[in-house]
Amino acid sequence: MTTAAEGALLTQVGPGTPMGDLMRRYWIPAALSSELERDGAPVRLKLLGEKLIALRDSAGRVGVMDHRCPHRCASLFLGRNEEGGIRCVYHGWKFDVTGACMEMPSVPPHQDFRAKVRAKAYQAVERCGIVWVHMGAGAGAPPLPALDALDIPEEELGVSFIQRDCNWLQALEGDIDTSHFGFLHMGHVDPERMPEDEPLRHTITSRAPEYQFIDSAWGTQYAAYRPADQGGTYWRFGTFMFPFWTQQPSSPFSGNANARAWVPLDDEHTMFVFLWWKRGVSAMTEPQPRHKDGTPVGGTTRGNALLPNTTDWLGRFRMAANSSNDWGLDRTAQQAGKIYSGINGIHLQDQAITESMEPIVEHSFEHLAPSDHMIARTRRRLLMAARALGEKGIPPPGAEDSGVYRGARSGFFVSNEVSDWQEIYARQLAMAARPGGIAQANAD
Ligand code: FES
Ligand SMILES: [Fe+2]
Repeated sequence: MTTAAEGALLTQVGPGTPMGDLMRRYWIPAALSSELERDGAPVRLKLLGEKLIALRDSAGRVGVMDHRCPHRCASLFLGRNEEGGIRCVYHGWKFDVTGACMEMPSVPPHQDFRAKVRAKAYQAVERCGIVWVHMGAGAGAPPLPALDALDIPEEELGVSFIQRDCNWLQALEGDIDTSHFGFLHMGHVDPERMPEDEPLRHTITSRAPEYQFIDSAWGTQYAAYRPADQGGTYWRFGTFMFPFWTQQPSSPFSGNANARAWVPLDDEHTMFVFLWWKRGVSAMTEPQPRHKDGTPVGGTTRGNALLPNTTDWLGRFRMAANSSNDWGLDRTAQQAGKIYSGINGIHLQDQAITESMEPIVEHSFEHLAPSDHMIARTRRRLLMAARALGEKGIPPPGAEDSGVYRGARSGFFVSNEVSDWQEIYARQLAMAARPGGIAQANAD
Protein backbone atom coordinates (compact mmCIF):
# COMPACT_ATOMS: atom_id res chain seq x y z
CA MET A 1 0.00 0.00 0.00
CA THR A 2 1.01 3.60 -0.42
CA THR A 3 0.94 5.66 2.77
CA ALA A 4 -0.34 9.20 2.93
CA ALA A 5 3.25 10.46 3.30
CA GLU A 6 4.40 8.48 0.28
CA GLY A 7 1.40 9.73 -1.66
CA ALA A 8 2.33 13.32 -0.85
CA LEU A 9 5.91 12.74 -1.94
CA LEU A 10 4.77 11.18 -5.22
CA THR A 11 2.19 13.79 -6.14
CA GLN A 12 3.70 17.14 -5.09
CA VAL A 13 5.91 18.66 -7.77
CA GLY A 14 6.32 22.32 -6.79
CA PRO A 15 9.74 23.94 -6.24
CA GLY A 16 11.66 22.34 -3.38
CA THR A 17 9.61 19.14 -3.18
CA PRO A 18 11.46 15.81 -3.70
CA MET A 19 9.43 14.85 -6.77
CA GLY A 20 9.61 18.41 -8.06
CA ASP A 21 13.41 18.27 -7.76
CA LEU A 22 13.39 14.95 -9.65
CA MET A 23 11.20 16.32 -12.47
CA ARG A 24 13.50 19.31 -12.83
CA ARG A 25 16.29 16.98 -13.94
CA TYR A 26 14.53 16.18 -17.23
CA TRP A 27 13.44 17.84 -20.45
CA ILE A 28 9.72 18.58 -20.34
CA PRO A 29 7.50 18.83 -23.46
CA ALA A 30 5.84 22.15 -22.68
CA ALA A 31 4.08 23.56 -25.73
CA LEU A 32 3.51 23.08 -29.43
CA SER A 33 5.98 25.05 -31.54
CA SER A 34 2.97 26.32 -33.47
CA GLU A 35 1.64 28.07 -30.35
CA LEU A 36 4.48 30.60 -30.48
CA GLU A 37 4.56 33.19 -33.23
CA ARG A 38 7.61 35.23 -34.04
CA ASP A 39 7.21 38.53 -32.16
CA GLY A 40 3.74 37.30 -31.22
CA ALA A 41 1.84 37.33 -27.94
CA PRO A 42 3.53 35.46 -25.08
CA VAL A 43 1.70 32.31 -23.98
CA ARG A 44 0.98 31.62 -20.32
CA LEU A 45 2.28 28.22 -19.25
CA LYS A 46 2.12 26.43 -15.96
CA LEU A 47 4.73 23.73 -15.36
CA LEU A 48 5.57 21.97 -12.09
CA GLY A 49 3.49 24.55 -10.26
CA GLU A 50 5.44 27.53 -11.68
CA LYS A 51 3.81 30.31 -13.65
CA LEU A 52 5.81 30.88 -16.82
CA ILE A 53 5.54 32.61 -20.16
CA ALA A 54 6.72 31.23 -23.48
CA LEU A 55 7.51 33.37 -26.51
CA ARG A 56 9.30 33.38 -29.85
CA ASP A 57 11.59 36.34 -30.54
CA SER A 58 12.27 38.22 -33.78
CA ALA A 59 14.98 35.73 -34.75
CA GLY A 60 12.67 32.74 -34.14
CA ARG A 61 14.33 31.66 -30.88
CA VAL A 62 12.00 30.37 -28.18
CA GLY A 63 12.15 31.48 -24.57
CA VAL A 64 10.45 30.13 -21.46
CA MET A 65 10.74 32.21 -18.31
CA ASP A 66 9.15 33.09 -15.00
CA HIS A 67 6.30 35.43 -15.82
CA ARG A 68 7.45 37.97 -13.23
CA CYS A 69 9.70 40.81 -14.27
CA PRO A 70 12.80 40.78 -12.04
CA HIS A 71 12.38 44.54 -11.43
CA ARG A 72 9.15 44.73 -9.45
CA CYS A 73 7.41 41.52 -10.45
CA ALA A 74 4.93 42.86 -13.00
CA SER A 75 3.82 40.06 -15.30
CA LEU A 76 5.82 39.83 -18.49
CA PHE A 77 2.72 38.24 -20.04
CA LEU A 78 1.53 41.83 -20.47
CA GLY A 79 4.82 42.74 -22.12
CA ARG A 80 5.74 43.78 -25.65
CA ASN A 81 7.48 41.05 -27.62
CA GLU A 82 9.54 43.19 -29.98
CA GLU A 83 12.96 43.45 -31.60
CA GLY A 84 14.66 40.47 -30.04
CA GLY A 85 13.13 40.38 -26.56
CA ILE A 86 10.23 40.91 -24.21
CA ARG A 87 9.81 44.43 -22.86
CA CYS A 88 8.03 44.90 -19.53
CA VAL A 89 5.34 47.51 -19.90
CA TYR A 90 5.73 48.83 -16.33
CA HIS A 91 9.15 50.56 -16.63
CA GLY A 92 10.33 49.37 -20.04
CA TRP A 93 13.06 46.94 -19.02
CA LYS A 94 13.75 44.45 -21.79
CA PHE A 95 14.96 40.83 -21.64
CA ASP A 96 16.10 38.40 -24.30
CA VAL A 97 15.02 34.74 -24.40
CA THR A 98 17.99 33.70 -22.25
CA GLY A 99 16.88 36.13 -19.53
CA ALA A 100 19.65 38.67 -20.13
CA CYS A 101 18.58 42.26 -19.46
CA MET A 102 19.02 44.18 -22.74
CA GLU A 103 17.77 47.60 -21.70
CA MET A 104 16.94 49.46 -18.49
CA PRO A 105 15.50 52.70 -19.82
CA SER A 106 13.92 53.91 -16.56
CA VAL A 107 17.37 54.28 -14.98
CA PRO A 108 19.93 57.04 -15.89
CA PRO A 109 22.75 55.56 -17.97
CA HIS A 110 25.36 56.03 -15.23
CA GLN A 111 23.20 54.05 -12.79
CA ASP A 112 22.30 51.28 -15.23
CA PHE A 113 22.92 47.85 -13.69
CA ARG A 114 21.51 45.65 -16.42
CA ALA A 115 24.52 43.30 -16.26
CA LYS A 116 23.49 42.36 -12.71
CA VAL A 117 19.82 41.57 -13.44
CA ARG A 118 18.41 38.55 -15.21
CA ALA A 119 14.90 37.34 -15.85
CA LYS A 120 14.53 33.78 -14.59
CA ALA A 121 14.69 31.94 -17.92
CA TYR A 122 14.94 28.21 -18.47
CA GLN A 123 16.73 26.35 -21.22
CA ALA A 124 14.37 25.68 -24.12
CA VAL A 125 14.80 23.78 -27.38
CA GLU A 126 12.51 22.70 -30.20
CA ARG A 127 12.19 19.24 -31.67
CA CYS A 128 9.32 17.31 -33.24
CA GLY A 129 7.20 20.46 -33.32
CA ILE A 130 7.41 20.69 -29.54
CA VAL A 131 9.02 23.25 -27.24
CA TRP A 132 11.01 21.39 -24.59
CA VAL A 133 12.02 23.04 -21.31
CA HIS A 134 14.64 22.08 -18.75
CA MET A 135 13.74 23.61 -15.40
CA GLY A 136 16.87 22.59 -13.53
CA ALA A 137 19.46 25.04 -12.33
CA GLY A 138 22.62 25.56 -14.34
CA ALA A 139 23.44 25.01 -17.98
CA GLY A 140 24.12 21.29 -17.88
CA ALA A 141 20.98 19.93 -19.47
CA PRO A 142 21.29 16.40 -20.92
CA PRO A 143 20.32 15.46 -24.49
CA LEU A 144 16.63 14.83 -25.14
CA PRO A 145 15.49 11.29 -24.24
CA ALA A 146 16.40 8.69 -26.88
CA LEU A 147 12.79 7.66 -27.53
CA ASP A 148 11.87 6.09 -30.86
CA ALA A 149 9.06 8.64 -31.01
CA LEU A 150 11.57 11.49 -31.32
CA ASP A 151 13.03 9.86 -34.44
CA ILE A 152 9.72 9.87 -36.28
CA PRO A 153 10.08 12.05 -39.41
CA GLU A 154 8.04 15.23 -39.24
CA GLU A 155 5.65 14.16 -42.02
CA GLU A 156 4.86 10.91 -40.19
CA LEU A 157 4.61 12.36 -36.67
CA GLY A 158 1.41 13.25 -34.89
CA VAL A 159 1.51 15.36 -31.71
CA SER A 160 -1.51 15.93 -29.48
CA PHE A 161 -1.84 17.93 -26.28
CA ILE A 162 -4.85 17.37 -24.00
CA GLN A 163 -5.17 18.74 -20.49
CA ARG A 164 -6.43 16.56 -17.67
CA ASP A 165 -7.86 17.92 -14.43
CA CYS A 166 -6.06 15.72 -11.93
CA ASN A 167 -2.66 14.91 -10.52
CA TRP A 168 -0.05 13.61 -12.95
CA LEU A 169 0.46 10.28 -11.16
CA GLN A 170 -3.11 9.00 -11.33
CA ALA A 171 -3.29 10.14 -14.97
CA LEU A 172 -0.11 8.22 -15.79
CA GLU A 173 -1.22 5.17 -13.85
CA GLY A 174 -4.19 4.80 -16.20
CA ASP A 175 -1.71 3.87 -18.90
CA ILE A 176 -0.02 1.12 -16.89
CA ASP A 177 -3.26 -0.28 -15.44
CA THR A 178 -3.92 -2.69 -18.27
CA SER A 179 -6.52 -4.72 -16.38
CA HIS A 180 -9.12 -1.98 -16.86
CA PHE A 181 -9.18 -2.42 -20.63
CA GLY A 182 -11.60 -5.34 -20.66
CA PHE A 183 -14.00 -3.44 -18.40
CA LEU A 184 -13.92 0.34 -18.85
CA HIS A 185 -13.37 0.15 -22.60
CA MET A 186 -14.64 -3.28 -23.59
CA GLY A 187 -16.94 -4.40 -20.76
CA HIS A 188 -20.01 -4.35 -22.99
CA VAL A 189 -18.44 -6.21 -25.90
CA ASP A 190 -19.33 -9.78 -26.70
CA PRO A 191 -16.23 -11.47 -28.17
CA GLU A 192 -18.52 -13.39 -30.55
CA ARG A 193 -19.42 -10.07 -32.19
CA MET A 194 -15.80 -9.19 -32.95
CA PRO A 195 -13.95 -10.32 -36.08
CA GLU A 196 -11.87 -13.47 -35.65
CA ASP A 197 -8.72 -11.64 -36.76
CA GLU A 198 -9.09 -8.70 -34.31
CA PRO A 199 -6.34 -9.23 -31.71
CA LEU A 200 -8.10 -7.04 -29.13
CA ARG A 201 -10.75 -9.77 -28.99
CA HIS A 202 -8.42 -11.62 -26.63
CA THR A 203 -8.74 -8.88 -24.00
CA ILE A 204 -12.33 -9.94 -23.54
CA THR A 205 -12.17 -13.68 -24.16
CA SER A 206 -10.12 -13.55 -20.96
CA ARG A 207 -10.58 -10.44 -18.82
CA ALA A 208 -8.20 -11.49 -16.06
CA PRO A 209 -4.74 -11.89 -17.62
CA GLU A 210 -1.59 -12.97 -15.86
CA TYR A 211 1.40 -10.67 -15.66
CA GLN A 212 5.16 -10.43 -15.70
CA PHE A 213 7.05 -7.36 -14.42
CA ILE A 214 10.59 -6.10 -14.39
CA ASP A 215 12.54 -3.07 -13.26
CA SER A 216 14.36 -1.81 -16.32
CA ALA A 217 16.98 0.83 -17.06
CA TRP A 218 14.26 3.30 -18.09
CA GLY A 219 11.82 2.52 -15.25
CA THR A 220 9.41 -0.42 -15.24
CA GLN A 221 7.93 -2.82 -17.75
CA TYR A 222 5.07 -5.30 -17.70
CA ALA A 223 3.67 -7.97 -19.95
CA ALA A 224 0.08 -9.15 -19.62
CA TYR A 225 -0.58 -12.52 -21.22
CA ARG A 226 -3.54 -14.73 -21.91
CA PRO A 227 -4.32 -17.68 -24.14
CA ALA A 228 -4.97 -16.89 -27.80
CA ASP A 229 -6.24 -19.23 -30.50
CA GLN A 230 -4.53 -22.50 -31.48
CA GLY A 231 -2.21 -22.66 -28.50
CA GLY A 232 -0.74 -19.20 -29.00
CA THR A 233 -0.40 -16.48 -26.39
CA TYR A 234 -1.71 -12.92 -26.65
CA TRP A 235 0.90 -10.57 -25.19
CA ARG A 236 0.47 -6.92 -24.19
CA PHE A 237 3.65 -5.08 -23.23
CA GLY A 238 3.75 -1.65 -21.60
CA THR A 239 6.31 0.62 -19.99
CA PHE A 240 6.75 3.40 -17.51
CA MET A 241 9.79 5.55 -18.29
CA PHE A 242 11.21 8.19 -15.97
CA PRO A 243 9.99 10.65 -15.06
CA PHE A 244 6.47 10.83 -16.60
CA TRP A 245 6.53 8.84 -19.85
CA THR A 246 4.54 5.74 -20.77
CA GLN A 247 4.16 3.48 -23.73
CA GLN A 248 0.95 1.49 -23.73
CA PRO A 249 -0.31 -1.39 -25.83
CA SER A 250 -2.99 0.40 -27.81
CA SER A 251 -1.43 -0.72 -31.10
CA PRO A 252 0.33 -3.70 -32.66
CA PHE A 253 3.86 -3.95 -31.26
CA SER A 254 5.69 -3.82 -34.56
CA GLY A 255 4.64 -0.31 -35.53
CA ASN A 256 4.08 1.26 -32.14
CA ALA A 257 6.80 3.88 -31.74
CA ASN A 258 4.41 6.05 -29.74
CA ALA A 259 5.29 7.80 -26.49
CA ARG A 260 3.02 9.49 -23.97
CA ALA A 261 4.03 12.12 -21.43
CA TRP A 262 1.98 13.06 -18.38
CA VAL A 263 3.40 16.49 -17.66
CA PRO A 264 2.50 18.00 -14.29
CA LEU A 265 1.23 21.56 -14.77
CA ASP A 266 0.65 21.80 -11.04
CA ASP A 267 -0.40 19.25 -8.43
CA GLU A 268 -3.97 19.13 -9.74
CA HIS A 269 -3.55 19.54 -13.51
CA THR A 270 -1.66 17.51 -16.08
CA MET A 271 -0.90 17.90 -19.78
CA PHE A 272 -1.11 14.69 -21.76
CA VAL A 273 1.41 14.95 -24.59
CA PHE A 274 1.07 12.19 -27.16
CA LEU A 275 3.60 11.54 -29.90
CA TRP A 276 2.34 9.01 -32.42
CA TRP A 277 3.58 7.46 -35.59
CA LYS A 278 1.00 7.97 -38.29
CA ARG A 279 2.00 4.66 -39.88
CA GLY A 280 1.13 2.82 -36.69
CA VAL A 281 -2.37 2.22 -35.43
CA SER A 282 -3.46 4.27 -32.47
CA ALA A 283 -6.64 4.76 -30.52
CA MET A 284 -6.15 8.51 -31.00
CA THR A 285 -5.52 8.42 -34.72
CA GLU A 286 -7.23 5.44 -36.23
CA PRO A 287 -10.77 4.10 -36.02
CA GLN A 288 -11.33 2.16 -32.86
CA PRO A 289 -11.61 -1.63 -32.97
CA ARG A 290 -14.91 -2.57 -34.52
CA HIS A 291 -17.58 -5.21 -34.23
CA LYS A 292 -18.17 -7.52 -37.17
CA ASP A 293 -20.97 -5.18 -38.24
CA GLY A 294 -18.56 -2.22 -38.39
CA THR A 295 -19.71 -0.34 -35.29
CA PRO A 296 -16.82 0.86 -33.07
CA VAL A 297 -16.51 -0.97 -29.78
CA GLY A 298 -15.57 2.07 -27.68
CA GLY A 299 -18.58 4.22 -28.50
CA THR A 300 -19.99 6.09 -31.41
CA THR A 301 -17.71 9.12 -31.25
CA ARG A 302 -14.16 9.57 -30.11
CA GLY A 303 -15.28 12.33 -27.75
CA ASN A 304 -12.05 14.30 -28.01
CA ALA A 305 -13.44 17.73 -28.91
CA LEU A 306 -11.50 20.56 -27.29
CA LEU A 307 -12.67 23.92 -26.02
CA PRO A 308 -11.06 26.99 -27.59
CA ASN A 309 -7.79 27.83 -25.88
CA THR A 310 -7.77 30.84 -23.59
CA THR A 311 -4.83 32.85 -22.21
CA ASP A 312 -5.38 31.50 -18.68
CA TRP A 313 -2.59 29.60 -16.94
CA LEU A 314 -4.63 26.43 -17.39
CA GLY A 315 -6.54 27.50 -20.49
CA ARG A 316 -4.91 25.29 -23.12
CA PHE A 317 -6.20 22.07 -24.70
CA ARG A 318 -9.15 21.45 -22.37
CA MET A 319 -11.77 18.90 -23.34
CA ALA A 320 -15.34 19.99 -23.96
CA ALA A 321 -16.55 16.88 -22.09
CA ASN A 322 -15.45 17.31 -18.50
CA SER A 323 -16.62 17.08 -14.90
CA SER A 324 -19.02 20.00 -15.37
CA ASN A 325 -21.11 17.90 -17.79
CA ASP A 326 -20.34 14.44 -16.35
CA TRP A 327 -18.10 13.79 -19.37
CA GLY A 328 -21.21 13.35 -21.52
CA LEU A 329 -22.28 10.26 -19.58
CA ASP A 330 -25.22 8.58 -21.33
CA ARG A 331 -27.10 6.48 -18.75
CA THR A 332 -29.33 4.98 -21.42
CA ALA A 333 -26.33 3.67 -23.37
CA GLN A 334 -24.86 2.37 -20.11
CA GLN A 335 -28.03 0.57 -19.06
CA ALA A 336 -28.71 -0.84 -22.51
CA GLY A 337 -25.24 -2.39 -22.60
CA LYS A 338 -24.23 -0.26 -25.59
CA ILE A 339 -21.21 1.26 -23.82
CA TYR A 340 -20.05 -0.19 -20.51
CA SER A 341 -19.36 3.25 -18.99
CA GLY A 342 -21.91 5.25 -20.97
CA ILE A 343 -19.05 7.57 -21.96
CA ASN A 344 -18.15 7.83 -25.60
CA GLY A 345 -14.64 7.12 -26.80
CA ILE A 346 -11.63 5.42 -25.29
CA HIS A 347 -9.64 8.56 -24.49
CA LEU A 348 -12.60 10.27 -22.84
CA GLN A 349 -13.35 7.17 -20.79
CA ASP A 350 -9.81 7.27 -19.38
CA GLN A 351 -10.03 11.02 -18.86
CA ALA A 352 -13.32 10.73 -16.95
CA ILE A 353 -12.16 7.90 -14.73
CA THR A 354 -8.89 9.50 -13.59
CA GLU A 355 -10.54 12.91 -13.10
CA SER A 356 -13.32 11.25 -11.08
CA MET A 357 -10.79 10.05 -8.48
CA GLU A 358 -10.64 13.63 -7.02
CA PRO A 359 -7.86 16.02 -8.07
CA ILE A 360 -5.29 14.07 -6.05
CA VAL A 361 -5.96 10.44 -5.12
CA GLU A 362 -6.03 9.79 -1.38
CA HIS A 363 -3.66 6.86 -1.48
CA SER A 364 -4.45 5.56 1.99
CA PHE A 365 -8.05 5.00 0.79
CA GLU A 366 -7.01 2.51 -1.90
CA HIS A 367 -6.90 -1.29 -1.80
CA LEU A 368 -4.42 -2.34 -4.45
CA ALA A 369 -4.86 -5.82 -5.94
CA PRO A 370 -2.35 -8.26 -7.47
CA SER A 371 -3.39 -6.84 -10.85
CA ASP A 372 -2.06 -3.46 -9.66
CA HIS A 373 1.48 -4.70 -9.20
CA MET A 374 2.82 -2.53 -12.05
CA ILE A 375 1.38 0.54 -10.36
CA ALA A 376 2.87 -0.37 -6.98
CA ARG A 377 6.21 -1.18 -8.55
CA THR A 378 6.32 2.07 -10.49
CA ARG A 379 5.50 4.10 -7.38
CA ARG A 380 8.29 2.32 -5.53
CA ARG A 381 10.80 3.14 -8.26
CA LEU A 382 9.73 6.78 -8.23
CA LEU A 383 9.96 6.97 -4.44
CA MET A 384 13.38 5.34 -4.40
CA ALA A 385 14.68 7.63 -7.13
CA ALA A 386 13.34 10.79 -5.46
CA ARG A 387 14.85 9.78 -2.11
CA ALA A 388 18.19 8.81 -3.67
CA LEU A 389 18.35 12.18 -5.35
CA GLY A 390 17.32 14.13 -2.26
CA GLU A 391 19.45 12.25 0.25
CA LYS A 392 22.51 11.26 -1.78
CA GLY A 393 22.39 13.39 -4.90
CA ILE A 394 22.11 10.31 -7.14
CA PRO A 395 20.67 11.32 -10.54
CA PRO A 396 17.42 9.49 -11.38
CA PRO A 397 17.30 7.07 -14.37
CA GLY A 398 17.59 8.81 -17.73
CA ALA A 399 18.32 12.22 -16.22
CA GLU A 400 21.93 12.17 -17.34
CA ASP A 401 21.97 9.09 -19.56
CA SER A 402 19.33 9.69 -22.19
CA GLY A 403 20.26 6.35 -23.83
CA VAL A 404 18.40 4.33 -21.18
CA TYR A 405 15.23 4.71 -23.23
CA ARG A 406 16.59 2.71 -26.18
CA GLY A 407 14.81 -0.60 -26.60
CA ALA A 408 11.67 0.52 -24.77
CA ARG A 409 8.56 -0.36 -26.72
CA SER A 410 4.96 -1.36 -26.09
CA GLY A 411 2.22 -3.03 -28.05
CA PHE A 412 0.40 -6.30 -28.53
CA PHE A 413 1.09 -9.43 -30.54
CA VAL A 414 0.20 -13.13 -30.63
CA SER A 415 3.11 -15.53 -30.36
CA ASN A 416 3.40 -19.29 -30.38
CA GLU A 417 6.84 -19.09 -28.83
CA VAL A 418 7.35 -20.82 -25.51
CA SER A 419 10.28 -19.17 -23.79
CA ASP A 420 11.16 -16.50 -21.26
CA TRP A 421 9.01 -13.38 -21.68
CA GLN A 422 12.02 -11.09 -21.98
CA GLU A 423 13.42 -13.29 -24.76
CA ILE A 424 10.08 -13.13 -26.57
CA TYR A 425 10.17 -9.34 -26.14
CA ALA A 426 13.72 -9.08 -27.48
CA ARG A 427 12.83 -11.09 -30.58
CA GLN A 428 9.73 -9.00 -31.29
CA LEU A 429 11.79 -5.85 -30.77
CA ALA A 430 14.42 -7.02 -33.22
CA MET A 431 11.71 -7.48 -35.87
CA ALA A 432 9.81 -4.27 -35.06
CA ALA A 433 9.72 -1.38 -37.48
CA ARG A 434 11.51 1.73 -36.36
CA PRO A 435 11.05 5.29 -37.60
CA GLY A 436 13.15 5.52 -40.74
CA GLY A 437 11.89 2.16 -41.99
CA ILE A 438 14.50 -0.12 -40.47
CA ALA A 439 14.06 -2.95 -38.02
CA GLN A 440 15.43 -2.48 -34.51
CA ALA A 441 18.09 -5.14 -34.99
CA ASN A 442 19.72 -3.21 -37.83
CA ALA A 443 19.27 0.24 -36.42
CA ASP A 444 22.27 0.80 -34.19
S1 FES B 1 8.37 45.82 -13.12
FE1 FES B 1 9.11 45.35 -15.07
S2 FES B 1 10.23 47.08 -15.65
FE2 FES B 1 9.54 47.51 -13.69
FE1 LIG C 1 -7.77 3.07 -20.75
